Amino acid sequence: MPVSEPNKIYQEVIDALIALHRLTDGYTPNHEDQTAELAVMIGRHLGLPAERIDVLHMAAQVHDIGKARIPLELLTKPGRITSDEYGVLKTHVQFGYEILNKISFPFNLAEIVWCHHEYLDGSGYPRGIGGDALPLEARILTVADIVESMSADRPYRKSLGMAVALEEIQRQSGSRLDPVVVDACLHVVQQHNWRPVTN
Ligand SMILES: [Fe+2]
Ligand SMILES: [Fe+2]
Repeated sequence: MPVSEPNKIYQEVIDALIALHRLTDGYTPNHEDQTAELAVMIGRHLGLPAERIDVLHMAAQVHDIGKARIPLELLTKPGRITSDEYGVLKTHVQFGYEILNKISFPFNLAEIVWCHHEYLDGSGYPRGIGGDALPLEARILTVADIVESMSADRPYRKSLGMAVALEEIQRQSGSRLDPVVVDACLHVVQQHNWRPVTN
């Protein structure tokens, strides 16, 4: 996606981080890329201005960068994981925030990434914040992340199918997920017949 001129340098920083992450993880950057594509479609449908779309896109492209610190065996482990392993997985959000917060972005990219597993009702992690504390871009990223994750093949399981993914976000609409964002996601996925591309 072409980025507006003032954000070009920041996009280059993001691209460099992704290139580094790709060296050690053949799956996560593709998941982030597909999530970013869907997030941008939702953001555009909701009428976000170009500047905020740029930031949403860049944030989504690196939202799981903290997984670079999680052992690959855990990221790709098939079947059930233990609660201890889940605890380790969850740390990717804080790691990602700490990496991205080292860069003086003139916008809230690190904050958006920090919030991508938070829920409106405060039941998410790592901070358990909700409601108005969650920027719209983060609410969009959360929905796009769930839909991409469930509808794509993952290293540890096959796709659950788009129908199941869309049912899941509708089930959580109004409690964990922003209903306006869920409706926008349903609309764009159905209108464009969007499906994740796996590499
Ligand atoms: Fe994540
Ligand atoms: Fe993700």
